[in-house]
Amino acid sequence: MTNQPEQPSTPAHPPALSGPGQDSETLTTTQGAPVSDTDHSLKAGERGPTLLQDHHLREKIMHFDHERIPERVVHARGAAAHGTFVSYGNASQLCRADFLQPGKETRVFVRFSNVVGSRGSMDTARDTRGFATKFYTEEGIFDLVGNNIPVFFIQDGVKFPDLVHAAKPHPDVEIPQAQSAHDTFWDFVSLHTPAQAHAMWQMSDRGIPRSYRMMEGFGVHTFRMVSDSGESSLVKFHWKPALGVHSLVWEESQLAAGADPDFHRRDLAEAISAGHFPQWELGVQILPDNGTYTFEGIDLLDPTKFIPEELAPVQALGKMVLDRNPENYFAQTEQVAFHPGHMVPGIDVTDDPLLQARLFSYLDTQLTRLGGPNFAQIPINQPQSPVNDMFRDGFHEHRVPQGIAPYQPNSLDGGCPYMSQMASGEHPPLDFPQALGDSEKVRAEPASFSDHYSQARLFYLSLTAQEQAHVQQAYSFELGKCADVAVRQRQVDCLTHIDQQLASSVAEALGLEAQRAPADLPQPQPSAALSQIGGRWPVD
Ligand code: HEM
Repeated sequence: MTNQPEQPSTPAHPPALSGPGQDSETLTTTQGAPVSDTDHSLKAGERGPTLLQDHHLREKIMHFDHERIPERVVHARGAAAHGTFVSYGNASQLCRADFLQPGKETRVFVRFSNVVGSRGSMDTARDTRGFATKFYTEEGIFDLVGNNIPVFFIQDGVKFPDLVHAAKPHPDVEIPQAQSAHDTFWDFVSLHTPAQAHAMWQMSDRGIPRSYRMMEGFGVHTFRMVSDSGESSLVKFHWKPALGVHSLVWEESQLAAGADPDFHRRDLAEAISAGHFPQWELGVQILPDNGTYTFEGIDLLDPTKFIPEELAPVQALGKMVLDRNPENYFAQTEQVAFHPGHMVPGIDVTDDPLLQARLFSYLDTQLTRLGGPNFAQIPINQPQSPVNDMFRDGFHEHRVPQGIAPYQPNSLDGGCPYMSQMASGEHPPLDFPQALGDSEKVRAEPASFSDHYSQARLFYLSLTAQEQAHVQQAYSFELGKCADVAVRQRQVDCLTHIDQQLASSVAEALGLEAQRAPADLPQPQPSAALSQIGGRWPVD
């Protein structure tokens, strides 16, 4: 027997914690029965064997044993905050979405993340950053699941597992900084050349942001907005930080990785605690929906392309302020489930093949990650608008649905929930004759996806001399980690398509030859528009 101090009938202090599952002043089991000792297991005598009948011991250990859930297959490391989005209302002619009407305030939850690193990795690694925003609108959830880089590595979602397998640490030793991980990444990027533009952004200072508060965000794909009258426009989403875009220099990023692996997470949480609330403007580039899905020679369904702002300025739609840190990391930051298919009336997808694959992937992975089909009921994922989905049962069903007839049509239970009236333009007609079924099924990429270099070049040439020097140093450092000389050489060959001087300086740093563009690599095919922007496309 242990001598327990007598419990006062009224505790001297109210419990420090409250909230669901923490509303008793007395420690209890999960069944609500009082617990008198949580420090000693029940034993047969002071030094005797532990007794299986100790339910509190078994329940406490059982729960602890299952505290971890699978980390996200990508974007595992992240940090988040709550906030508010206020609409300026100037998109109300363009888009019928309620949250974009004048003055409308909408709660948001934003999660920033690293793509490749595991949940325990360091914040400042060179990587793309996720920028995912959940809008709790009165018409349901709208998720804008973007990145801090406006282009992506691949043009078709079927390549996503290949990309991630090449970028993640090797499956044998799983050492992220091992040479082998660099070998596979550069092997993929130099063979699958649509990845060259994204790789260029990653090797630039954008790959090592100073702070989440100083990052732009991009929806990457082309989305569709539909007005009240059914008119459709194509848009690219942008987040513009009020603090401007700032980066670390490489040495800072390496030092921070050792001295403060939580550098970005800490920065976000401390800024919010100190009342320095980060702000962004949400904006769109508006592009005509004329059935061609091209703009100034750029294929709008190709997610490896961005639209230069000189060609289509970003028009601000509203402001987001993040003003509250999460109350609980696991319950909110870890369990939040974003999905590019969470849309509201007035916003729709396009036929971008990368976006189409994403529409499948997120639901599918969350089914495993969050333990079954009911993760929309987790508080952070719950819409703030009324829900009646007629779904039933499944693991972790927390609702207690009433009635006997969750099916449609029915004449019992007072009938079914009403269907909303389909607004005009909700499903715009198919534009492509092939899509109507009069052509063969194909696994092929359109010719308009074949320019893999001109935007990498455009971006590189838009940088200052100092920023270009950082890019050159980043390629030299990262390729220097790559043990396979043939892979290094192939990537340098790719750089010759982007900028000969860049290729030469990287080749020299690596002791390689800077070849002229070899005939066996696809030749750059710059679009007409890109060749004219600011006169920055030098004609070889
Ligand atoms: C997670 C962005 C492409 C599959 C995420 C997250 C972001 C993001 C921001 C983190 C969400 C969070 O914070 O919880 C993007 C962007 C893409 C892209 C901008 C391309 C433009 C893809 C593709 C696939 C994919 C092509 C698969 C076909 C996933 C998966 C997760 C994820 C499985 C983990 C989701 C979870 O466990 O909750 N992505 N992604 N992504 N993404 Fe993507």
